Amino acid sequence: MIILGINAYHADASAAILVNGQLIAATEEERFTRTKHWAGFPVQAIAFCLQEANISMKDVDYICIGRDPKAKFKKKIAFMLQSPVHVLKYAVNRFANAKKISSIATELQKVDASISIADLEAKIQNVEHHRSHLASAFYPSPYEEAAILSIDGAGDFTTTMLARGKGTEIEVLEDIDFPHSIGVFYTAMTQLLGFPYYGDEYKVMGLAPYGEPKYVDLLRDVVQLIPDGLFRLNLSYFQSPHKGYVYYSDDFMPLVHSLFNEKMEARFGKVRAKDEELTQYHKDLAASVQRFTEEVIFHVLTYLHKITGLSKVCIAGGVAQNSVANGKITRNTPFKEVYIPSAGHDAGISMGSAYWVEHMVAKQTRSEAVFNANTGCQYSNEFIKSECERVNLSYRELADADLYPEIVKCLTNGGVVGWFNGRAEFGPRALGGRSIIADPRREDAKEILNLKIKRRESFRPFAPSILKEEVKNWFELDEPVPFMEKVFPIRKDKQAEIPAVTHADGSGRLQTVDHAYSKRYHELITAFFKETGVPILLNTSFNENEPIVNAPIEAINCFLRTNMDMLVMGNVLVDTRS
Ligand SMILES: [Fe+2]
Repeated sequence: MIILGINAYHADASAAILVNGQLIAATEEERFTRTKHWAGFPVQAIAFCLQEANISMKDVDYICIGRDPKAKFKKKIAFMLQSPVHVLKYAVNRFANAKKISSIATELQKVDASISIADLEAKIQNVEHHRSHLASAFYPSPYEEAAILSIDGAGDFTTTMLARGKGTEIEVLEDIDFPHSIGVFYTAMTQLLGFPYYGDEYKVMGLAPYGEPKYVDLLRDVVQLIPDGLFRLNLSYFQSPHKGYVYYSDDFMPLVHSLFNEKMEARFGKVRAKDEELTQYHKDLAASVQRFTEEVIFHVLTYLHKITGLSKVCIAGGVAQNSVANGKITRNTPFKEVYIPSAGHDAGISMGSAYWVEHMVAKQTRSEAVFNANTGCQYSNEFIKSECERVNLSYRELADADLYPEIVKCLTNGGVVGWFNGRAEFGPRALGGRSIIADPRREDAKEILNLKIKRRESFRPFAPSILKEEVKNWFELDEPVPFMEKVFPIRKDKQAEIPAVTHADGSGRLQTVDHAYSKRYHELITAFFKETGVPILLNTSFNENEPIVNAPIEAINCFLRTNMDMLVMGNVLVDTRS
């Protein structure tokens, strides 16, 4: 059974392929187009998936699209009829888009011209957006039975979906219609705080620990919790939802309309201008937005627990990217275990739609659990060497036993190392496949990284990768966090030892590194541990204001245009620019 999943014409376009229930490959199209959140048709990601599975399009049993235009059709029509002016504008815009967007089958023919449109159309299955999120969270989880939550901005006219998974079945229990969305709320406040771009929400999460949550009570009027239930937006604070919130540029960049209105500004202050200083008020507002969002998430999860009675929960959707909230779930809700996939955001829609069809349509046996995000591109040492030679870059090829001490020496001398290792990750986090690493013990590591490479806002933290078996000695909690999807408090007695990865509130967005899934990265951290007594590396994504590097030439270019001290790709070491 071969199932191809696609997220197309939507932010974070992607493809994933399942062969007999095993996730063989999954990747975002942005890694190839080199435009963040690219939202066109993922031709290159699909070609990559077919190549990894060593098959052609003819061999694929199902092609799954993670959207269903028929979902809630009557509700959508009724909603649009509330605002005929906006409906007209919307229709004109959709018509312009439709001219840009070819049919799925026509696009698929670009990947494999030998298959007919009719044959392609026969294979296509539409899977509703939130069902795709639910499937992306439950089927790769290790749980036989679990509650499931999909929570995001919006998709297929739904913003939140509650479900129960058992074996191969997912039963949808309740959902919330657009526009009542915690994602819309968080994005609106992100914009008000002066961060206007699609995907900027993590900046508010990073800023929050510098403030006090003084305005939570005011926010209760913006998002209203329903006792013993879910929540509603107070729409009087928001722009009309009828024109839609997310739209796409001609070159498939996702953009967001301004979501808040004058009432929101009257209550919470004027929108922060582009270069306006971040004041203590902004920090306090960020802290309030983050704290209140956590409260809403815990409220929803407590209700989900009540209606399922289960102790484990799987979560996906854009709001599931809130790693600070995720890290507090077991302490603030009755749930005891949490699984969140590496691509919990919309890139995971491709994988989720494939899993949904695998189980709910094709009725296959349960898939293997997934604890490894490394489903993207990989390159041999031979190819890497040929790429270095192509650009006249000197290198040495070293066995792992000789390589690790060289890297550790560079790190302990304050160096910044590009670590390009095996397959690229699926999802927004670098997890030791395409990472930049540094010594977490250095007070100045954050400044060095920002000076040499990242040039990002000074308030944003860097993350720790820690040996799985050492977590209990450094963090207050000891849960697996394979995908850097949770933030935990760092033990008070350890915070001063690792200042570069300790955030303002004493927390760290950790990745627990398991030898079974990340052998070489685990071995490298172990070598650093033996030398320093610290089983942790600072890990940030391998990029500089671009999608994470995918191919060796992108890593080489990033190395050459920044002040990175060392580049390691497979067993190839570069520590000179000549
Ligand atoms: Fe979504």
